Amino acid sequence: GTFTGKAARGLRFDAVAPNKNDAVTVPAGYEQSVVIRWGEPILRGAPAFDPDNQSAKAQAGQFGYNNDFLTLLPLRERGRQLLVANHEYTDEVLMFAGYDEANPTREQVEIAWAAHGLSVVAVAEERGSGKLSPVPRHHLNRRITATTEFRVTGPAAGSKLLRTTADPSGRKVLGTLNNCAGGTTPWGTVLSGEENFNQYFANGAKVTDADTKAKLARYGIAGEASERQWEKYDDRFDLLKEPNEPNRFGYVVELDPYDPESTPRKHTSLGRFKHEAAQPRLTRDGRAVVYMGDDERFDYFYKFVSSKKMRRGSSRADREHNMGLLDEGTLYVAKLTGDSPASEIDGTGKHPADGEFDGSGEWIALASGDKSFVPGFTAEEVYVYTRLAADKMGATKMDRPEDVEPSPRTGRVYVALTNNTDRGKDGKAKADEANPRNANKHGQVLELAERGDDPAGKRFSWRLFLVCGDPSDPATYFAGFPKDKVSPISCPDNVTFDAYGNLWISTDGNALGTHDGLFGVATSGSREGELKQFLTVPIGAETCGPVVQEERVLVAVQHPGEIDGASVEKPASTWPDGPGSYVRPAVVSVWRKGGGAIGV
Ligand code: FEO
Ligand code: CA
Ligand code: CA
Ligand code: CA
Repeated sequence: GTFTGKAARGLRFDAVAPNKNDAVTVPAGYEQSVVIRWGEPILRGAPAFDPDNQSAKAQAGQFGYNNDFLTLLPLRERGRQLLVANHEYTDEVLMFAGYDEANPTREQVEIAWAAHGLSVVAVAEERGSGKLSPVPRHHLNRRITATTEFRVTGPAAGSKLLRTTADPSGRKVLGTLNNCAGGTTPWGTVLSGEENFNQYFANGAKVTDADTKAKLARYGIAGEASERQWEKYDDRFDLLKEPNEPNRFGYVVELDPYDPESTPRKHTSLGRFKHEAAQPRLTRDGRAVVYMGDDERFDYFYKFVSSKKMRRGSSRADREHNMGLLDEGTLYVAKLTGDSPASEIDGTGKHPADGEFDGSGEWIALASGDKSFVPGFTAEEVYVYTRLAADKMGATKMDRPEDVEPSPRTGRVYVALTNNTDRGKDGKAKADEANPRNANKHGQVLELAERGDDPAGKRFSWRLFLVCGDPSDPATYFAGFPKDKVSPISCPDNVTFDAYGNLWISTDGNALGTHDGLFGVATSGSREGELKQFLTVPIGAETCGPVVQEERVLVAVQHPGEIDGASVEKPASTWPDGPGSYVRPAVVSVWRKGGGAIGV
């Protein structure tokens, strides 16, 4: 490579080298601070963090554990924004001194319920820097937990598949679980995907009805005691007692963060699977289109197209209309076809003769309102057993579709396919042009272009934009950019765009032996494919949430210190507060020393 000259606008910083620092490492000339940590009080009356005397009541007023998705929304208050973060799951061994995995106490379980969910918290900007600090007791601050009431909406609301002893209506669910990536809607609400909800439900293995058992197994519910043993303290987590409770999780939830009294919703129309993310955009005539990944090896990529149009006004009636947009429309799943001969896809990542992993695709309709397009499935069954419906329609088995983001500049949609070490194993799907490596450790980023740039269209084209790994590995590909000028990247997960059209990618599970991090990459122009590492995270953490504003980059440092065998007594990391402190998942802001735009 002889490519020289200035990096793409927005990416003009010294790339951070791969490392194993127990720290957030940022480029020279950049500064950082923790915005908010697990346990910091945000609601009126919540006490200061005291991990040795934690209570469920305290936790319900404090920032929760393990943030994945982050968004910053505008506030009509000078120098303030509204941060919405989710709390995917809890790491009990790092939260409780002397935690006994075989015998969690009721208090510990209730603390974990309160540490799950979502947080809404106002944040104040510091003048002349990118620093943000929480505004405790702000009237919009809110905690949503595993026991907050949700309203089920859309065509499967009230279905017999969703009814339980506590909720014979099938329309009222307590809590949201395992919220992973999400999205911010053009109408000012937040979407959040319920991902690995299977882990909270016990006794799937003891279910005797073969059909029920098969459906549970397709969603990964096949064990006896659950990891956290919540079933000891609430029957709804025991399948033998409440067989329908798991059917009430695995949805995209929508929250209006500007109305702290509002009841958040679970949208059945967007299907039920391990929802990683839900990123909306609008058609030219104002209908909402939501792209969604199902993060499982060999699972699918979906989209939903609303039948109604968004209203631009901000009256209560307009907001209510827009909150209902995702309740009526059509759910599709993606089928991808490569354009090179199958014989040229040898599973090593060697590029085919036409030089690209690329091809065409179609969106297969699964259901629209009460109408099912899947033989043998009612519409309700499509929405509740979406994976099985998509199996039937021959959707393409992908390498774990994680987060997705349409480019606000070009309309092209970027999908992180994080890895799939089972690809090509006996009895499993082999490499195809969209998932071209067997035993795929490092993942790829797929670029999808809707035909005619119509997000509601039925056809699209696609290509692999990045084939991840160490650039010295011949299988890797960086959109044709010289590989001696890019950072190594492995296991892409969350994605977002900056104002210059660069895609920012955070990673989870870096299989190159160094820590996870955040990367920026140009998606068009002469520097397309130029990928540079902006930061790395501490021991045991994944990098999540990225939000890239002009003068700051926000990341969530999720599950720092999560290493096999680590505990409060034997921590693997003491980030962010140092030796003698509990390791704490936190949100971090990074900015340019002295202020100014990031990467210019
Ligand atoms: Fe929670 Fe698919 O990552
Ligand atoms: Ca090709
Ligand atoms: Ca993820
Ligand atoms: Ca992840």
